[in-house]
Amino acid sequence: MSGSNYPVDLSVKPEVKAFFDPATNTISYVVKDPSSSACAVVDSVMDIDYAAGRITYDHADEIIAHIRDNELELEWLIETHVHADHLSGAPYIQKQLGGKLGIGEKITVIQETFGKIFNEGTEFQRDGSQFDMLFKDGDTYKIGEMTAMVMCTPGHTPACMVHVMGNATFTGDTLFMPDSGSARADFPGGDAATLYDSIQKVLALPDDMRLFMCHDYGQNGREIQWETTVGEEKEHNIHVGGGKSKEEFVKFRTERDAQLAMPKLIIPSLQVNMRAGQLPPSDDTGRTFLKVPINEL
Ligand SMILES: [Fe+2]
Repeated sequence: MSGSNYPVDLSVKPEVKAFFDPATNTISYVVKDPSSSACAVVDSVMDIDYAAGRITYDHADEIIAHIRDNELELEWLIETHVHADHLSGAPYIQKQLGGKLGIGEKITVIQETFGKIFNEGTEFQRDGSQFDMLFKDGDTYKIGEMTAMVMCTPGHTPACMVHVMGNATFTGDTLFMPDSGSARADFPGGDAATLYDSIQKVLALPDDMRLFMCHDYGQNGREIQWETTVGEEKEHNIHVGGGKSKEEFVKFRTERDAQLAMPKLIIPSLQVNMRAGQLPPSDDTGRTFLKVPINEL
């Protein structure tokens, strides 16, 4: 046990296979239960050429092929949050392999906020019903015989969750690699002080806990990396490591966020991901469109 109130079991060691998407610097994972063929997919990607309005599925197909080749049973598709920089590939994978799609219960807050921004009609449900499971803080669920556990970690967005599966923890955007620090906290519903508190919850896990990032940008030209440990983050994370105070973090994060441009794919990503990765409904000609709200973001 650790300093956190969350039950963890480092003796359970899932196999973690990473899939890096160079177009969006996202890392998706297939996590396999060590004692069965059950697995989960964490944060998959659907490919979009936004300039052309073209959607393809190369990244998701790679994940599907891995699951089929290794004869795994897909039980869960996990979204750590509503991503603003890539489109989720979860519904496409789910259609072919089954499994339940889960996200944090605060998805309803995101749906309310962005339902307004994109002026969605009443047919857009804001109750999270597009997902199979809405997780609360401390919830557990099974991947085969392995118990996975959910930590509510708001700050980057209100619906952010970190998933702990044995000795492997999937941080979403709550933490980046130690030399890259943390994600922005200035999206609607984001908050730097809240993000600091959420990061402390992750850092209260045991030092040997393996941490897997959702993004990496190859800080200062190094190779892309996605795995570290709680101990490494506690000591070396440039934004929160070495005992940095909440005040220092909030000041730094707020100043940095004010200088950041919007992610390139935020407009298509939010419209699709708030619908659990589904495209908006087709119009009466059977064609599908995304909106671009002017001066709203
Ligand atoms: Fe994100």
